[in-house]
Parts: sequence; structure tokens; C-alpha cells
Amino acid sequence: MSFNNETEKQKFYIKKCKELVAAKEQLYGRKLTACVVTFGCQMNFKDSEKLMGILTEIGYEESEDEHSDLVLYNTCTVRENANLKIYGRLGYLSKIKEKNPEMIVGLCGCMMQEPHVVEKINKSYRFVDIIFGTHNIFLLAQLLYNRLMSGHKIEEIWEGTTEIVEDLPTVRKYNFKSGVNIMYGCNNFCSYCIVPYVRGRERSRKPEDILNEIRELVKNGVVEIMLLGQNVNSYGKTLDNPITFAGLLEEIEKIEGLERIRFMTSHPKDLSDELIEVMAKSDKICRQMHLPLQSGSSRLLKIMNRHYDKEHFLELADKLRKAIPDIGLTTDIIVGFPGETEEDFQETLDVVRKAEFDSAFTFIYSKRSGTPAAKMPDQVPEDVVKDRFDRLLNLVNEISRKKTKLLENTVQQVLVEEINKKIPGYVSGRLSNNSVVHFKGAQELIGSIVPVNLKEAKGFYYIGELVK
Ligand code: 5AD
Ligand code: SF4
Repeated sequence: MSFNNETEKQKFYIKKCKELVAAKEQLYGRKLTACVVTFGCQMNFKDSEKLMGILTEIGYEESEDEHSDLVLYNTCTVRENANLKIYGRLGYLSKIKEKNPEMIVGLCGCMMQEPHVVEKINKSYRFVDIIFGTHNIFLLAQLLYNRLMSGHKIEEIWEGTTEIVEDLPTVRKYNFKSGVNIMYGCNNFCSYCIVPYVRGRERSRKPEDILNEIRELVKNGVVEIMLLGQNVNSYGKTLDNPITFAGLLEEIEKIEGLERIRFMTSHPKDLSDELIEVMAKSDKICRQMHLPLQSGSSRLLKIMNRHYDKEHFLELADKLRKAIPDIGLTTDIIVGFPGETEEDFQETLDVVRKAEFDSAFTFIYSKRSGTPAAKMPDQVPEDVVKDRFDRLLNLVNEISRKKTKLLENTVQQVLVEEINKKIPGYVSGRLSNNSVVHFKGAQELIGSIVPVNLKEAKGFYYIGELVK
């Protein structure tokens, strides 16, 4: 067979798999089910929607239960505990497969890009049928076809790619909001981070492809999009016709019917004045910026290869707050990077106090083999790290509570996202700044933007009341 492009080829394999699945359906007298379990970040969630898109096109019924005919784990490896979680879960899955040997088990995503992981899976988890990585997720139908036809284990990992395959099927978890990839990979090589090794070099999608995708989403009822990339601020640099991220946002903003635009993640080193300006004057770009600090110590930032220092970060925070006073500023912080002293840690606390983050994700440094930091001396003892982590978390929480309180008793526009699972009769939604509010409301509200009075700040969220 010869194909004009990869999309055509994969559509051929989708059709072939469809025939095989239809035959099994006949045999079993029921639909076949598939369950995709996602670990890790927004990027992976988006990839999983594409994987599930391919599987439903093939004829599988989507299921959230791992007692399915096909189970696919889309893995993460950013920190050691992400890996441990997956090994644990595979133990559980092996028991299910023992009872149903026909079941197909697949592993893909970031963790599979590490040779030592694949080696371990092949040795200790021999029931896994299909292994692939981050660069070839679009191959799912082809790999599945090969597995179904051969009965053998299929393993295909690519070391990298320059290709971006467009136009394959996808399903969406929410019909009113969606992630949109604008770029893949990362070129930053922060010294602690495994992402550039498992996600490859930076590649931007063409603006026309992004805009067309968003137009199509809006036609189908989407009101909020989240633009996804490891470092959205460097979007467009590698394109034949370069365009800045701010320029892309201005184009997206013009799409009629689109109400809210979010993006993540921003790198402080590439955050431009142009972007701040575009955000400040925009009606659609949400009042939210996730700007990972990692450490407040200029000395450590240098060793982390972050290309900014404490002062520069604080300047950015200041600029953002001046230009967009109601912005929700959030961050990521790592505690216990090799060689971190109490003085370094105090610098981090100082930035947290000064930048007054609305919320922060705090992480204990995790050694990732293959990264420069893994070989650095002076790994910080566990008890010291734990103590610092607790102190940081206390400060972050104290500031979050204070910041949340500021909007108490104000009316804000809220995109209603889901039925609240804990409080009967309540729904939950998000403000422009990404804070969550729970309030009395019904299913019909889901997907619409409504005014809500934030009656009570509860630390990190609000209890509100719909304004009628
Ligand atoms: N250890 C701990 N945290 C890490 N992160 C990335 N790599 C590591 C690591 N080796 C954190 C960073 C990043 C977030 C997604 O994960 O804070 O911003
Ligand atoms: Fe996302 Fe990074 Fe985890 Fe991959 S390793 S899923 S890119 S957080």
C-alpha cells in the first residue's frame, strides 16, 4: 500500500482494526470496551483524548473501568513517584488480565521514552502487549492492528520526530472547553528536568492549523480553550513564517463565539512585554498566569539553567500585577534541588512573600536519571527537604487564603464546569483567574458563563450564589 501522508495511512489502519473489532463483537455478542488512564499533565490529557478518538473510531466503547477489553496507560515520568504509581497500577492490572487473557494492555507516553523503563516492563510486566512513546502516539491504530494480527507483543519507540500529524480523530471529555496543542517538545534543558529528553525538541504547529482547530471547536460548542505547550512564550520561533505567541493570541481572540482563552506553561525567561500588553487589553484572555519560579535563589536558578534571576522574576510579577491587577498568578516551586542551602531556601520564601502567588504547586526535588542535576553532589538529606517543604507549604497556603479572601462578596463571571460530586444540588465552575466556586445550580448551567456572588472564601475555593 502507498499513502500520500501519515494521516491517510493511519486512517487505513483504523479501518482495518475496525473490521477486526467488529468480528470480535459478533463473536462475543457485545460491544468491546476501551479504557485510557492518564497520568501527568495537561499535555498527556490532550494526548489521551486523541488516543480515545482513535479507539472509538475503531469501534471500542469508552469506559472508565479497567475491566475492559483494551486498557491503555498514558504515563508520566516527571518525578519518581509518577513512575512508582504506574508500576503499582500495573500490578493491579495484571490480576485483571489473569482473569481475562484476551485483554489488550498498552503503555505509552513519557515514561516509555526511557530505555531502562521499557527494559523493566519487558522483564517484570510481561503481560503488556503494546508499548509506544510520546512521538508516535498517532500510530496507535497501526500498532494495535499489528498486535491483533500477530498475537505478539509490539514495541515501537521513536527517539524523536519533526513530524506533526494533523487531522486524526479525537474525543473530548468536556464539550464546552478543550485543550489545544500549539507546540510540542521543549528546548530549555532545565538541569533537573526530564521533559526535553522524553518529549523531544520544540516544534510549533502552524497558526492556520491552530486557528482552524479552534474555529471547529467553537462551532461544536466550545467556549473556553487552553493553549498547551511546555513553553508557550517561545511559540512560533521555529516556523517558516515566524510569529510570536502574543501575535497568535491576537489572532485567536478574533474568533467569534470563543469566550475564554487560557494557556500554559509560560517560561519567565521568554515572557514578553508584548504578551502582557495583549493580555491587559484583551476581553477573552483569562486573568491567569502560571509562571513557574522553581527557586527564588539566583545562585540555584543559574545551576538549574533557568536563564533568569530572582530580581527578574519579581520584576515580571510586578509588571503583570500592574498591567492586570486582577490576575491570578500561580507557580511551581521545587524544594531540595542539589546543593540547596537554608539561605537559598530563604530566598524562595522571600519571593513567595513578595510575589504573593494566588496558589503554588510545590514539589520535592526528584532525581531523574540522565539529567545533569542527577549527577550533582550535595543531594539534600530527606529530613531537611521535608522540613523545608512543610515550611514552604504553610507560607503558600497562608498567602492563598489571604488572596482568596480578597474577592469575597464580589460578583464574578463563572464558567460552570460540572455537577459538584460532594454537595448535592451544587455545581462547580471557574472564575477567569482560575479559582473554583461551588454554588447551587442544575445540570443545565454546565457550559455557560454566569454571574456568581462569591459569598464565602473557603481557603482555596468559594461557596457562591448564582445572581439571577
Ligand atoms: N523534581 C521535582 N519537580 C520537578 N518538576 C520538573 N522536574 C522535576 C524534578 N526532577 C516540576 C517543575 C515543573 C513541574 C511541571 O514539575 O516545578 O514546573
Ligand atoms: Fe507531562 Fe512532563 Fe509528565 Fe510528560 S513527563 S506527562 S510532559 S509532566
